Amino acid sequence: MSDAALDVVEFLLTTSVYSDDRTLDENDLPPSYRRVFWTGGTGSNESEDDSEDESDTSADRRQGITRPLSATTGTAREATGVDQPWNAVSELMFTERDEFSGSITLTQTELADRWFADRVDDERLLENPTLAKHFEAHDDFDVTHEAAREQNRPIHADRVWIDGLLEEYFNEDDDEEMLDLVDVRAPEEVDMSLDDLVLTDDQENELDKISKAIEHRDYLSAIGLREIGKLLFVGPPGTGKTSTAQALAQDMDLPFVEVKLSMITSQYLGETAKNVDKTFEVAKRLSPCILFIDEFDFVAKTRRSDEHAALKRAVNTLLKAVDNISLIDDEVLLIGATNHPDQLDDAAWRRFDEIINFPKPDSGMRADILSVITRQMQIEEFDPHLIADVTSGLTGSDLRMVLREAVLEALTEDRTTLTQKDLLNAVEEFEERDSLKNMDMIEGDHDALVAGGDIGGAASDGGEPDSGGHDHDHSHDHDH
Ligand SMILES: Nc1ncnc2c1ncn2[C@@H]1O[C@H](COP(=O)(O)OP(=O)(O)O)[C@@H](O)[C@H]1O
Ligand SMILES: [Mg+2]
Repeated sequence: MSDAALDVVEFLLTTSVYSDDRTLDENDLPPSYRRVFWTGGTGSNESEDDSEDESDTSADRRQGITRPLSATTGTAREATGVDQPWNAVSELMFTERDEFSGSITLTQTELADRWFADRVDDERLLENPTLAKHFEAHDDFDVTHEAAREQNRPIHADRVWIDGLLEEYFNEDDDEEMLDLVDVRAPEEVDMSLDDLVLTDDQENELDKISKAIEHRDYLSAIGLREIGKLLFVGPPGTGKTSTAQALAQDMDLPFVEVKLSMITSQYLGETAKNVDKTFEVAKRLSPCILFIDEFDFVAKTRRSDEHAALKRAVNTLLKAVDNISLIDDEVLLIGATNHPDQLDDAAWRRFDEIINFPKPDSGMRADILSVITRQMQIEEFDPHLIADVTSGLTGSDLRMVLREAVLEALTEDRTTLTQKDLLNAVEEFEERDSLKNMDMIEGDHDALVAGGDIGGAASDGGEPDSGGHDHDHSHDHDH
């Protein structure tokens, strides 16, 4: 019997059990099933004002999925990924299809139960809370409904639910500006994982600490420790701040809400303060989730300068919202990030209880990062330590660019296997571009900028091996 049959029977059983047992809610359905039956909305009373009575009991969220769940070839295909769902089960004697509506039914549920029970194990049952409950008392299985529910991803982390929520909060008119300001990603859409990141011991310790705090938030609440769960990531661009926040979301299966502060520009001022509030409301409704506020220095900068009053108001709204959100009470982990810690004022620093430093990687870390990013690549005579030695001052992001350059360069020669030499060339190339970027346009380098001048070989198209000796401190020694 094929897996396809098992998949489809599981689907048929689930829809049948779920339709009959009204105590089950959407968190009892595997994500791939509820995506099919989700009818939109987030189940709150949408006509009511949004002054929020946080009472999201499962009762008033249930309306997103309507009973009975209809099992048709269409819904079965979508939920299980089986191309020909009816073909997969048509030979079984307890299935039937209505030609006209395309609906598939179980004619003898006891038979179907038995057939299914003979073929699944605990592990699989635990992925389907509806069936875990159904078979809980069955002798062959050692599963509980509760365990399966705990393991099932909550509806809050599904894209469909997130979309419904965003629609509810941000109406058509401010949709566009709002999309510039916030970006919400379901954990399944985050493709960054902690395995892909090379972290310092200090970073690992801090992240461990915060996962523990999240795990034990009831305890922390009970002993009155509430000032916890606001992290500030500090470090130069390209050192992994955004990636680490995303990887945490993926690791803990939490939605990732990102606010881009630079998007609070005068262009939208009328609505901005309101949208900042809405963003925090959304985060609370999505909880548990991670709220990532990038470019936090923007806050301080705005407060200091003589900016537009409305802009200051928006920033003050933001600071107040930061104060009012809590990991313990709202289950929102707030992570701020900045490339310019020197520009943060006291008011900003004070709001974070842990500061995590993202330094430029040292040689050992660079070698590790190189190993991680080349995991899927073929590189002859690859020596990450040697490359690390000649890339001091480069960040993880820079190293990624170097590798990309090497790959593309090799492709121009139709090669998909790289060599250590390709990498060394790409490093050199990177350094040249970097020194162009850092060139002082006003002083010293003027001569080099004159057309026809040879900018340290930057324009070389692989001709002569060039003067060599690209040092890595970006000093501007392009004179000749
Ligand atoms: N420590 C690191 N380990 C692995 N990859 C890294 C590291 N630091 C940066 N990167 C890579 O560099 C890129 C940019 O990182 P990002 O998180 O956007 O940096 P930041 O937010 O600090 O500017 C990402 O693709 C990331 O994977
Ligand atoms: Mg970033």
